[in-house]
Amino acid sequence: MHLLITGGTGFIGERLIEALLAQEHTVTVLTRQSLSGTAALNYVQSLDDIASDTQLDAAINLAGASLAARRWSPAYKREIVNSRLGTTRALLALFKRLQSPPATLLSASAIGYYGHQGDTVLAEDAPVNSGFSSQLCHDWEQAAEHATELGVRVCLLRLGVVMDSSGGALQEMSRSFGLGVASWIGRGDQWLSWVHRADVVRAMLFLLNNNALSGAFNLTAPEPVTAKDFALALKEHYRTLVTAAVPAVVMRVAMGEMAQELLLNGQRVVPARLLAAGFEFSHPHITGALQAIYSNKT
Ligand SMILES: NC(=O)c1ccc[n+]([C@@H]2O[C@H](COP(=O)([O-])OP(=O)(O)OC[C@H]3O[C@@H](n4cnc5c(N)ncnc54)[C@H](OP(=O)(O)O)[C@@H]3O)[C@@H](O)[C@H]2O)c1
Repeated sequence: MHLLITGGTGFIGERLIEALLAQEHTVTVLTRQSLSGTAALNYVQSLDDIASDTQLDAAINLAGASLAARRWSPAYKREIVNSRLGTTRALLALFKRLQSPPATLLSASAIGYYGHQGDTVLAEDAPVNSGFSSQLCHDWEQAAEHATELGVRVCLLRLGVVMDSSGGALQEMSRSFGLGVASWIGRGDQWLSWVHRADVVRAMLFLLNNNALSGAFNLTAPEPVTAKDFALALKEHYRTLVTAAVPAVVMRVAMGEMAQELLLNGQRVVPARLLAAGFEFSHPHITGALQAIYSNKT
């Protein structure tokens, strides 16, 4: 297959591309960086650089400015939105221009779609909520779904917090543990719907290869945990001297709305549609996933 990946240089994309190249697929990556490729891996800085007679079998849409990188100022919120909606709309314009659009689009979204719904177990049919993340995910998904009008099969990937070594959320979440302090934020009873990066890649390949599947899919492990239980599982991998909660107010003052939406309002999400389709997670439980990560196994 020939696949186009936006944001393919990121935390998820790097592992996905490794897996696709190992299966002898050809990959074109849209990136803002100036990178030199190989015969099987080609980089473009604009979708305009893709000729109209290019044969693309699938596109995977991952590009977007990080939500967790910094405080959400009005300008940064615009960058978060525009980097996702702008890229998705540019992909749609490319699909229209191509002599034949790709058969499949996998487009990233996030469990932030569900907003704050307490202890409610959230499958894909749970409603969208209010708040910046919910609105962003809703609009991002809507933009991607327009591809169905061109006959493209669209799968929307509602990603949980993706865990692995070297980068991503775990690097930030484990920082205090490395300094001897096992911590969680606030009361610790907020849900953390996490997923191992290897399972994200495997689920993407599963969706690419199952033509009967379309619509929204939660990409989260089947067993979400509370923030406190996550901290206690993580603590097993560090020599910690102190175990303590970081007061919610401290995070609200430091990081504002971002802390409230991403760190203090959890979601209890389950991958109902992937499980129903027969997908098996390699890392369904947090203890096993962390064990694999800290012993460098996937
Ligand atoms: N990782 C998670 O835990 C998680 C959870 C939920 C949802 N997601 C979503 O899944 C997607 C992929 O996640 P990831 O962790 O791989 O993301 P990532 O490591 O932050 O990489 C995303 C890529 O997006 C591109 N990008 C960054 N800022 C941009 C901007 N302002 N305009 C256009 N492109 C920009 C970058 O590519 P270039 O520098 O090459 O242009 C970057 O490599 C993201 O959209 C993210 O929101 C991820």
